[in-house]
Amino acid sequence: MASLRLHHFSFVFTLVTLLSLSFPLYTHPFDFTEATVDSIQEAFKNRSLSSVQLVQHYLSLIRKLNPRLHAVIEVNPDALTQAARADLNREKNWLNQHRLHGIPILVKDNIGTADKLNTTAGSFALLGSVVCRDSGVVKKLREAGAVILGKASMTEWAAFRSDQAPNGWCARAGQGINPYVRSGSPCGSSSGSAISAAANLATVTLGTETDGSIICPSAFNSVVGIKPTVGLTSRSVVIPISPRQDTVGPICRTVKDAVYVLDAIVGYDVYDAKATKEAAKYIPQGGYLKFLKLDGLKRKRVGILRKDFFNFPKNSLHGKVFEQHFNLMRKKGATIIDNLQIANISAILDQSGEEVALTTEFKMAINEYLSQLTSSPVRSLADIISFDDNHDKEEKIKEYDQQQFLDSERTNGINSTVRNAISNMAQLSSRGIETLIREKRLDAIVTPDATVTSVLAIGGYPGISVPAGYDETGAPFGICFGGLKGFEPRLIEIAYAFEQATKVRKPPPFKSLL
Ligand SMILES: *[C@@H]1O[C@H](CO)[C@@H](O)[C@H](O)[C@H]1NC(C)=O
Ligand SMILES: *[C@@H]1O[C@H](CO)[C@@H](O)[C@H](O)[C@H]1NC(C)=O
Ligand SMILES: *[C@@H]1O[C@H](CO)[C@@H](O)[C@H](O)[C@H]1NC(C)=O
Ligand SMILES: *[C@@H]1O[C@H](CO)[C@@H](O)[C@H](O)[C@H]1NC(C)=O
Repeated sequence: MASLRLHHFSFVFTLVTLLSLSFPLYTHPFDFTEATVDSIQEAFKNRSLSSVQLVQHYLSLIRKLNPRLHAVIEVNPDALTQAARADLNREKNWLNQHRLHGIPILVKDNIGTADKLNTTAGSFALLGSVVCRDSGVVKKLREAGAVILGKASMTEWAAFRSDQAPNGWCARAGQGINPYVRSGSPCGSSSGSAISAAANLATVTLGTETDGSIICPSAFNSVVGIKPTVGLTSRSVVIPISPRQDTVGPICRTVKDAVYVLDAIVGYDVYDAKATKEAAKYIPQGGYLKFLKLDGLKRKRVGILRKDFFNFPKNSLHGKVFEQHFNLMRKKGATIIDNLQIANISAILDQSGEEVALTTEFKMAINEYLSQLTSSPVRSLADIISFDDNHDKEEKIKEYDQQQFLDSERTNGINSTVRNAISNMAQLSSRGIETLIREKRLDAIVTPDATVTSVLAIGGYPGISVPAGYDETGAPFGICFGGLKGFEPRLIEIAYAFEQATKVRKPPPFKSLL
């Protein structure tokens, strides 16, 4: 397992010290637990906190908790320098600063950064590979003034190497731990991002989803995840599975913080031109902040997919809590349309053709990604497979098989079977969720945890997961609001109003981690 590198401290020491001197001594120390972007910006403004102090806090908390949580793969040796620069710029220019200015963010290890951090999808095969530029989303984060704190752990290769490997496990970081129930799953594949957000190891984080990888870990770790419409956020220089389904989105403690991050990362990217240009029409004038409305549930039509998704045992805690939530949504002015079903749902969940399509697309996409690296120990899926064969033996690490890699390597591009699978998914989507939402005039469909993710995945649709409760063991569960392409504004209205009315999230019991 990689140890965290916290060097370069002396390099920035002088700058940091000089800067700290210009800040007063504080009688009321800032409360870092559950700190939000707003509370941090307020503290920046009244000078009770600097970005450097914030980064120092997160670095020391990561050092303390990460040996248990395995949520962070690398911290950025330049994070303190970036924070010091943000502090200086803030002094010079109070106006016109992005809300993420000086805010530390952890990004999932498959999101490329052109800096000292490695981008490896949790695998040793990509250690030492050099990306040619920042990913589109990281470029936008840097422009907003965010501090790249480090790389979050993840299910290795976004769970596309082996279906034997457990969720949240990767060779470089080991098994990610759910901070609420150590024996419970953190889910994946954006496990490290969700664990880190939950355990307050960063202000905000980024994850990616192909099918479930933002929604599921968000639900399991009691945080908010936004899976944007495919193409709303750029996938350039992100280690891919399939450009048809991959999307990058925020994982944060609150809907508002997730919206700040979403606002910063959406939009056109010349290196993911076709998809980001196509989806740019969904981005509202002035961004998404205006949809954070306390009365966002008012006049919303919310569809419950009862039979296929809410089959909890009678009188179970889950079942009762969700009934309370539905009642509360009614009280907040939503119309609940109950007992809905998506046509051919079992085909969508089981045999839509997603598997053969992803298996085929992965080889093409990963080979393309590898070919664009400035340098890399592996240049093709075949190279990765033989690296794994040798490396796993040499290092004697407990690795899992690479059956999915082998299946993918055997594919040969988009043939008639794959074309049929893709058009089948399009048809299932248009007859299924599209028809249901149009006919019932829904603003969102509601499902528990990550049960619906294949419905959203195969059509490129958005979803937002919000904390919904904790079961008898203390394990969190989530509620997912899903919609059609470009439904982000109304999903944000619903998610925010729901979050504010329920306030379910609580931080994990830290004492059990130390
Ligand atoms: C500065 O803002 C923070 C965050 O809102 C608050 O906790 C703190 O009390 C404020 N300090 C002063 C001196 O106003
Ligand atoms: C990236 O990986 C290399 C090993 O190839 C290591 O020396 C370096 O410290 C890593 N970077 C960080 C920021 O940990
Ligand atoms: C559902 O699938 C069956 C075949 O399995 C097909 O005949 C039917 O038309 C589909 N229904 C819808 C609404 O798509
Ligand atoms: C097309 O390729 C897929 C794998 O990508 C394979 O499973 C399928 O059998 C192939 N179909 C034809 C008609 O060759």
